[in-house]
Amino acid sequence: MEKRKFEFEVEINFKEVFRNPARWFGYVFIYIVLIILALGLIFHNQLDYMFKNEVAYNEIDSTRVFTELVAKKGGMVEGVKFEEVSSLTPELEKKGAELYKSTCASCHGEDGKGKGVASAGLNPPPRNFTSKDNWKNGNNPSGMYTTLQQGISGSAMVAYDYIPPKDRIALIYFISKFAGGKFEFTQADYDEINSQFKIDESRIEPSQIPIQIAKVKIIEDNKDFINKTIELSKTLSNDKLLTNKVIQNPEKAANFLLKVKQQNITNLSEAIIANIPRNGFSYTFVNYNQEIKSSILTEIKELIKN
Ligand code: HEC
Repeated sequence: MEKRKFEFEVEINFKEVFRNPARWFGYVFIYIVLIILALGLIFHNQLDYMFKNEVAYNEIDSTRVFTELVAKKGGMVEGVKFEEVSSLTPELEKKGAELYKSTCASCHGEDGKGKGVASAGLNPPPRNFTSKDNWKNGNNPSGMYTTLQQGISGSAMVAYDYIPPKDRIALIYFISKFAGGKFEFTQADYDEINSQFKIDESRIEPSQIPIQIAKVKIIEDNKDFINKTIELSKTLSNDKLLTNKVIQNPEKAANFLLKVKQQNITNLSEAIIANIPRNGFSYTFVNYNQEIKSSILTEIKELIKN
């Protein structure tokens, strides 16, 4: 009897199990654990596949998104006094009608109902000036002036900030007619617009050229620098150079080194380390001992001397 005390019961004691079904668990729990483990392993193995996008992820490179600027000649933009626009003179009326027809009617329509020829498919659609509802900046003079100054972002309504203040007020007179009823441009309206946009001051507007043209011009102005960069990057690609061993991207490194030279930076080593790896150098540079480092620096200084 003493001996039996340490023996395990090997066989399943069915009588016992039927009397106490919870004991089943004791017999099968190891299999349950194994099954869960197996499922877990399968799941883990399939993770990559499960999270694969059906549709290729196409991130927009935000550095390539820009609104193209229109070419415009700078010059004096005349300010406007309240007296010049306090009532609808024939001159203002004519200007407003002309400008509306040439610049706005394509979208907003000749009748101001927002159904111009260019309005098809625009979302949001051009504003119907005869309706009072849901104006974003408001249908009062200062709201409309703000719209003309800034445009409405996310819509086809761009800024018309190049139109001189007086002509914009002519447009406001014109648009307001679509709403019917009497329209007055009051001193309070003028003051409100003036407090935001300083329309009483004449100012000099700088000239502006489209970004695409500006890019070409920048490249032209920097032709020398670019040529030097190309030349140096070819030199740096030569694996006979000691420097070549610490360079990951010769173009970047060449560009960086020439800029460092331009800015007369004295501590070359520090500048290189501070900008790894953006500057085209590799981390191996950091790991070299002082002696090799200084040989590399001497070599670089020689390369960018002229
Ligand atoms: C390319 C089409 C287009 C042209 C051209 C255009 N607009 Fe618009 N305009 C729109 C669209 C679209 C909206 C509606 C924007 C929105 O609701 O987000 C709008 C809205 C407006 C609004 C209402 C803003 C508000 O508060 O909701 C005013 C005022 C306006 N335009 C004036 C003008 C004037 C004046 C011109 C001419 C100088 C002009 N627009 C030229 C498309 C155009």
